[in-house]
Amino acid sequence: MFIDNHCHVFSEYYNDIDAVIKNCKLHNINKIIISGTDISSNMEVLELVNKYDIVYGTIGFHPTELDDFKDSYFDWLESNIDNNKIIGIGEIGLDYHYDNTDKNKQIEVFKRQLCIAEKHGMPIIVHSRDSMGDTYNILERYKLNGVIHCFSGSVEMAREFTKIGYYIGVGGIITYKNAKTIKEVVKDISLSYILLETDSPYLSPEPFRGKVNYPSNIPLIAKAIADIKSVSITDVARVTTSNSESVFDFFRK
Ligand code: NI
Repeated sequence: MFIDNHCHVFSEYYNDIDAVIKNCKLHNINKIIISGTDISSNMEVLELVNKYDIVYGTIGFHPTELDDFKDSYFDWLESNIDNNKIIGIGEIGLDYHYDNTDKNKQIEVFKRQLCIAEKHGMPIIVHSRDSMGDTYNILERYKLNGVIHCFSGSVEMAREFTKIGYYIGVGGIITYKNAKTIKEVVKDISLSYILLETDSPYLSPEPFRGKVNYPSNIPLIAKAIADIKSVSITDVARVTTSNSESVFDFFRK
């Protein structure tokens, strides 16, 4: 039994979501967490969690989706997190990859969402690209927990994040030949800090690199981790599922 802790299964990317969900069940994926990134995908998350038993959701505003961001979205976020299948705030964070990034706006929107998460006691799904230092310095000041999704930092950074309450999200990149750093991270940190994720439709694991990704590819990621840590794939499934259950409240009332 596996959980895909982070994906974007939206109609924008998939013609047949029924089939994607059905395929999860065939591959022993019994829960998937779909994360919104902007107002329209967040609204779709609310529909999908109501429609499919295995789908759980998180809602939030992603740092590269802030062009049309309105202040009223904070109220929208707060008024929609009481749904019992919405189990976290995300995908939120900082992304300094592009030169035209408005860092101050990203930081402000990130912090406002952290306050909402703190107020409601919800875990967060963090996106951090070329911004590990700032992300850490901000998160350190909040009493929160969650996952650093698609972790791309060093072994030292991974250790620091686990010390302040964060799990390390590991996805398809772990199967790539040239992905040296994340392999070192997985080797170094305890399996009890790792969460599996596909980030579908992005970042397909080998042998599907470059193609559309699916939550049903989770076992390929689990296999790569099992090989690095010299444990069985069953152990990876068992431990990472239990990790996920300690971060997210799947039985929210
Ligand atoms: Ni994502």
